[in-house]
Amino acid sequence: MSTPISTLTEINSDTIESVIEQIEIDLKNGISKFLLFPIPRNKAENNFDFSFVLLAVKRIKETFGDSVWLVADVCLCAYTSHGHCGILNSDKTRVLNHETVSIIALYALQLAQAGTDCIAPSDLMDGRVAAIRLALDNNGFDHIAIMSYSAKFSSHYYGPFRDACKSTPGKGSTLRDRRTYQISPFNSSDAIQSAVRDRQEGADILMIKPALLNLDILYQLRQLVRAPLAVYHVSGEYESIELLAKQNSIERDKGHVEVWASMKRAGANCIISYASRHAKDWIDKIEY
Ligand code: PBG
Ligand code: ZN
Repeated sequence: MSTPISTLTEINSDTIESVIEQIEIDLKNGISKFLLFPIPRNKAENNFDFSFVLLAVKRIKETFGDSVWLVADVCLCAYTSHGHCGILNSDKTRVLNHETVSIIALYALQLAQAGTDCIAPSDLMDGRVAAIRLALDNNGFDHIAIMSYSAKFSSHYYGPFRDACKSTPGKGSTLRDRRTYQISPFNSSDAIQSAVRDRQEGADILMIKPALLNLDILYQLRQLVRAPLAVYHVSGEYESIELLAKQNSIERDKGHVEVWASMKRAGANCIISYASRHAKDWIDKIEY
């Protein structure tokens, strides 16, 4: 069953059955790379149940094999009852980095065993790329790629996504937001450093998000590293174009393609967009 997400135009949350149907349609439209976001039924503070996403990965790979390149977002915020990206200490005032990284590395390994082609850690804990790389390499998964959310800013533009995952942090903890582990938009050197460090720890693809707001970081990184760079046009960025299009202030297709062009100019090798299933159609159609 496919359920529309009210805050994200044309985006649905799927069951395993409906995601298979959606991928079939997307393959026909020239999309073969997918980033999977699990929304588990039950939230917890620890001992998370990853079985739903592991089953989804297995089914997708059984059905489509290598015609699909499957990336899994790896974070705990969709699983935690408080919505933070990790395990909290007992008085719920901070995230426990070490404990969180151990769980994330194990989760990543299970995803690889289920058939995931690429692991995308979005939690931003220190040392998680190295820990995931080690867990994968030690278990015969050295061919599995890591795309790390490297320059991930603390942002108000994740709002629609958090509504969809019911992962807005704050409930039941004194830690109100993610500023202790996500990067301040006022701090560009942290973002660059975090990306360079992820590369040294073994990330294959470095990702920057939000995308449009941080093209300066993308451009600087392009000069610094040779790794493929990805940008994630996040939910709030996407929906702002959708809202403009709905009130007929801009044309939807042209609005998106212009944004994609700017990302490409700034050095992106890969663009993650909620409108990507239209990309081929729109880009072919538009003349400049
Ligand atoms: C989870 C995660 C987030 C996004 C991707 N993975 C949200 C967050 O940090 O709150 C943002 C996606 C979007 O807004 O489209 N860590
Ligand atoms: Zn998270």
